[in-house]
Amino acid sequence: MPKVLISDKLSPAAVQIFKDRGIDVDFQPDLGKDKDKLAEVIGQYDGLAIRSATKVTEKILENADNLKVIGRAGIGVDNVDREAASKKGVIVMNTPFGNMITTAEHAIAMMFAVARQIPEASASTHAGKWEKSKFMGVELTGKTLGVIGAGNIGGIVCDRARGLKMKVVAYDPFLSQEKADKMGVAKVELEELLKRADFITLHVPLTDQTRNILSRENLEKTKKGVRIINCARGGLVDEEALADLLKSGHVAGAAFDVFAEEPAKENPLFGLPNVVCTPHLGAATTEAQENVALQVADQMSDYLLTGA
Ligand code: MLT
Repeated sequence: MPKVLISDKLSPAAVQIFKDRGIDVDFQPDLGKDKDKLAEVIGQYDGLAIRSATKVTEKILENADNLKVIGRAGIGVDNVDREAASKKGVIVMNTPFGNMITTAEHAIAMMFAVARQIPEASASTHAGKWEKSKFMGVELTGKTLGVIGAGNIGGIVCDRARGLKMKVVAYDPFLSQEKADKMGVAKVELEELLKRADFITLHVPLTDQTRNILSRENLEKTKKGVRIINCARGGLVDEEALADLLKSGHVAGAAFDVFAEEPAKENPLFGLPNVVCTPHLGAATTEAQENVALQVADQMSDYLLTGA
């Protein structure tokens, strides 16, 4: 009977699926934080199911003599050393669809939050101040949203933004003109997006091609008063440069769920006015966590039981 270790906080629904499929499962949701312990025990398992807390390093993989599959309940597999996994013949799978709506909704929520300064206004109201004139916002209707990456999550963001009567321009080398037309968005080059957008939202993975895509140089090309939302990955935006441009008033606001260093305890954006921050909550809804847990358990079971 194949044996799977769950080393992160995964919905209990996943445990049940493994059991129902006849797979022996160890649910140890805190083990992922203890690299040495994980390296010690990994040799016993055929499968490893993780979220983002477990970092599957080369050292862990060196000891993974029986491991056949790593399943990431979520999209990004940047917490897995994929080169080391592939050298060891271990398949790495993710669940690209389970949390896409939830993440897109978070980006939209962050756009509203930064447009109307909701977190600051809420804190001020809780503090017993009544600062009605301090929190003047901007409307979204009629504004141009620049979407960098119009794949699964970016595509949903485009759809929701169109529902809000925004004009949407998208930069995505993989987006066909036909698909853009169907989505009702204008397919543009990055330079044009930077020039035209009132709000910019990022929905690309962090790769060598996308790292620092909003570099200082590119941020300086944006429209004055732009607001920037990042619910994709830290490292896509030059945070120091963005902080400078927020301080100078060129950028009017930013809403960030992801940071170059996570967990983010310090960051150039922290403490600046009209910067909304959340601790990588993009996929954090009960629905999405249930979806990704079910999907990863099913996919891993299929692979372990049938090799498919
Ligand atoms: C993902 O890659 O699925 C999201 O960023 C969510 C997460 O890492 O928890």
